[in-house]
Amino acid sequence: MRRPLALGIETSCDDTACALVDADGRVLASMVSSQLAAHRPYGGVVPEIASREHLRAWPEVSAAAFARAGAGLAEVDLVAATKGPGLIGSLLVGLSIGQTTAWARGLPFHGVHHLEGHLFSPFLRLEGEAAEPVPERFVGLVVSGGHTSLFGVEGGRVEPLAETRDDAIGEAFDKLGKRLGLPYPQGPRVDELAELGDPAAAPLSVAAPGRELFFSYSGLKTQALVALGRLAEAGVGTEAAAAEEPPLPPPVLDLLAGFRAAAVGQLLDRLGRLHRREPVPLLAVSGGVAANRLLRRRLPEWCAERGIALRLVPLPFCGDNAAMIAWAAQRRHALGQADDPLAAVAASRLAL
Ligand code: KG4
Ligand code: ZN
Repeated sequence: MRRPLALGIETSCDDTACALVDADGRVLASMVSSQLAAHRPYGGVVPEIASREHLRAWPEVSAAAFARAGAGLAEVDLVAATKGPGLIGSLLVGLSIGQTTAWARGLPFHGVHHLEGHLFSPFLRLEGEAAEPVPERFVGLVVSGGHTSLFGVEGGRVEPLAETRDDAIGEAFDKLGKRLGLPYPQGPRVDELAELGDPAAAPLSVAAPGRELFFSYSGLKTQALVALGRLAEAGVGTEAAAAEEPPLPPPVLDLLAGFRAAAVGQLLDRLGRLHRREPVPLLAVSGGVAANRLLRRRLPEWCAERGIALRLVPLPFCGDNAAMIAWAAQRRHALGQADDPLAAVAASRLAL
């Protein structure tokens, strides 16, 4: 372990996460406590429940992280917590814990933007290996339940290149799955079921031809919902039968495969547009949807064909986690930056 040791805290949505990461980006511990069971009866995240669950889970999650790392609070040299964007009540729990810890122990503090955490997470490695030094220049694609964003990173400066104009890609997966009566979180389940379908049997279009870089997933979601309505009218079952495997009939599985192919296709289409404008040297892909099976299969071959180096975030760091927050703080610390722990403010909406 190389000092300084960073304590990372992430509570922006429904995962309570604590991590310890050293100066080389070695993840000594990364604990994530999911609140799935608490939110499942409602089919989505209930903000009030999320805040209470963070308060309840924190002592256990943090104790597990320290035990795993074989370190105590006395060894922590800097503290980092997500300041936004996210659910305000959830953010306040983790940020307050981080601020108080840093202030009480006189340690440097970093209020980290959630997307900055995701953006640099593809350079983390597993099994306590040091992270890859963050390259001078790369393009970052963050795909999650809240974001579908492209960034250009050069010399520590982050420039937003494109965002979604409506739904985030993960949100579209979740909403389609919710309509089918699949349990929360629907995205991974839709992905799993799409593996069983034939995308060519139910092709959906990648909207918005042209040269613009922005994403849009609400049109694709609507196309899929309309196609589902037609199947239902034709007598096909479109409500998931929990007791059966697969829980949906073949025409619906084909539709899920067609939806997933178009969703991933849109990402590749926009990356292609960007690459034609100016060659992309290295692409770093992160966020919950970076766990998508089709995306993880297509990206390596797509990048290889174009001579683009690819860094796909390791699976354990796809979803929300605190290792990425601690790692972002290590970068900031190395650049000589720090925040006043008493002045940091949580924000549900926050530009990077
Ligand atoms: O990064 P994340 O944990 O939280 C946000 O910052 O949003 O991403 C969660 C999102 C959810 O929308 C979830 O359904 C989606 O990522 N997701 C997936 C897959 N795994 C998670 N979407 C498609 N395919 C997956 N395998
Ligand atoms: Zn996230």
